[in-house]
Amino acid sequence: MKKIFLLLLMILTVSGCGGASQEKTSTAPEKNQPTTQARSADKKILVVYFSRTGEEYNVGNITTGNTAIVADIIAKKLGADTFEVKAATPYPDAYEACTELAKRELESNARPAFAKNIDSFAQYDTIFVGYPIWWGAVPRVMMTFLEANALSGKTIVPFCTHGGSGLSGTEREIADACPNAKVLSGLAIVGKQCQNDPAAVESEVADWLKGLGY
Ligand SMILES: Cc1cc2nc3c(=O)[nH]c(=O)nc-3n(C[C@H](O)[C@H](O)[C@H](O)COP(=O)(O)O)c2cc1C
Repeated sequence: MKKIFLLLLMILTVSGCGGASQEKTSTAPEKNQPTTQARSADKKILVVYFSRTGEEYNVGNITTGNTAIVADIIAKKLGADTFEVKAATPYPDAYEACTELAKRELESNARPAFAKNIDSFAQYDTIFVGYPIWWGAVPRVMMTFLEANALSGKTIVPFCTHGGSGLSGTEREIADACPNAKVLSGLAIVGKQCQNDPAAVESEVADWLKGLGY
């Protein structure tokens, strides 16, 4: 009952919790290399994503996050590299504790530090950016990552997983964080489908990529 209430609360507050004060808590991240997959020499595509494991609403404990599953599907289809953004201080495994922390972060417009960064984005023209919807927004740690890198001159392709909110205007948040990038139309996948029916997700991803010309 408490969880149903929590989900309703999240959906109701989707449009109401974006405006916030300017508290920022970013620290300098470490550097790291993306995971490289075989790809044709002329294609320079990177899939960057943030995704959480642990207790998941209506699904139980998950060991691979929903967004991570979509990121992997995209990367395999395009032969792209992947890079997982991790919070310097991991988010709680417990669902409710995580929602409470995420709500406080959004309300204070925090910029929690991420663990590691990529050495250089120079070799990539196109960057797919994946995230779960948290309180109708991009998770604050992903905002820290985007603002730290800005991705100037790149084509950004957003994708998210969610519990019912869809993209919730997050394409705009990303465009604001990366003002000199071109942001394409995003994809929204219902999170539990990633765990329960990955074949259907693969087909949605394939249709979306085709529509974008990939
Ligand atoms: C902190 C938190 C806040 C959430 N807020 C929303 C929300 O506002 N709208 C929504 O549809 N789903 C919301 N969800 C559900 C997630 O977006 C969904 O389960 C997603 O697929 C999780 O992806 P991940 O496994 O990659 O982290 C929230 C989940 C968490 C943990």
